[in-house]
Amino acid sequence: MSDAKRLSQYLAEHQRQGRVDADFVGLISDVAAGCKLIADQVGRGNLIGLLGSAETENVQGETQKKLDIISNDEFTDILTEGGHVAGLASEEMDEVYDLPAGKHRGPYLCTYDPLDGSSNIDVNVTVGTIFSVLKAPTGKENPTEEDFMQPGTEQVAAGYVTYGPSTILVLTIGDGVDGFTLDRSVGEFKLTHPNMTIPEDTAEFAINMSNMRFWDAPVKRYVDECLAGTEGERDKDFNMRWVASMVAEVHRILVRGGVFMYPIDSKHRERGGKLRLMYEANPMSMIVEQAGGLSITGPDRIMTIEPEKLHQRVPVILGSKNEVQRIWDYHKEG
Ligand code: AHG
Ligand code: MN
Ligand code: MN
Ligand code: MN
Repeated sequence: MSDAKRLSQYLAEHQRQGRVDADFVGLISDVAAGCKLIADQVGRGNLIGLLGSAETENVQGETQKKLDIISNDEFTDILTEGGHVAGLASEEMDEVYDLPAGKHRGPYLCTYDPLDGSSNIDVNVTVGTIFSVLKAPTGKENPTEEDFMQPGTEQVAAGYVTYGPSTILVLTIGDGVDGFTLDRSVGEFKLTHPNMTIPEDTAEFAINMSNMRFWDAPVKRYVDECLAGTEGERDKDFNMRWVASMVAEVHRILVRGGVFMYPIDSKHRERGGKLRLMYEANPMSMIVEQAGGLSITGPDRIMTIEPEKLHQRVPVILGSKNEVQRIWDYHKEG
């Protein structure tokens, strides 16, 4: 695949076809550059002393890893200097990031989870970056939190990068999903996974089973049926995976199908769920739907949620269409 299309070529073609503008091409190029830097740091790990906790807490109440902070700073700096955004918001920043005075602004907003699955970083398991692109309000110097409160259906683009055995960038601009592998020999992302689609059926699910006693009835019913396999209601036996990095789970689902669930449970009910709407749930929902899958909270489609606050959390159930539809039906049945 050494002659595969480069990301820069791919973006230029989209621009020539009038599907994206120059600022969008610049923004995605900046995102790719930021992720290459993060990939490099993640790869070096403790050779340069980057593993372990920073002993600070983010606004989510999570202890930050050193790499959570470094990834956030690098990503934020690159997008700020690039001049294609009017505002930024991240899992690791308390509030909307106001671009410093004098920096050039562009027509987009970007939200991101700079290092997803960071509890896995010290044990050398795949982590990633997730991002979402929205339109900025016109003529406003520093967009506010309210300007970010757009439902997932308004996303211009979404993507993630997995830092695993390979570094892979998966992108949707609302016209299907394409995957690019970082060719380290030349430092460029190359189109290796064109037109990714999620198989409609699957016999694989992903959920943190230790939370079973906290789940609501519809999810309990679904997982019980998976566990019973052909001895229960289903015509197949199921396999289970739980990486604890959402990027790795979603990537697996894009490649071979499956269902990923972080449903509402009594531990997270007051906070609304575990995963973050603006940095995790919405971008992943756009990718999954663009690849032919479904993404719901349980009772509702995630991308129609009207956000109320930046760090809002939501339950997430996504993946292969027919299985997610079944779980959706179980919620409707109550
Ligand atoms: P983050 O590292 O960005 O805070 O996100 C971690 C998320 C997600 O990637 C993963 O699916 C989930 O948390 C794992 O949660 P548990 O540790 O409860 O299994
Ligand atoms: Mn976190
Ligand atoms: Mn995350
Ligand atoms: Mn994170």
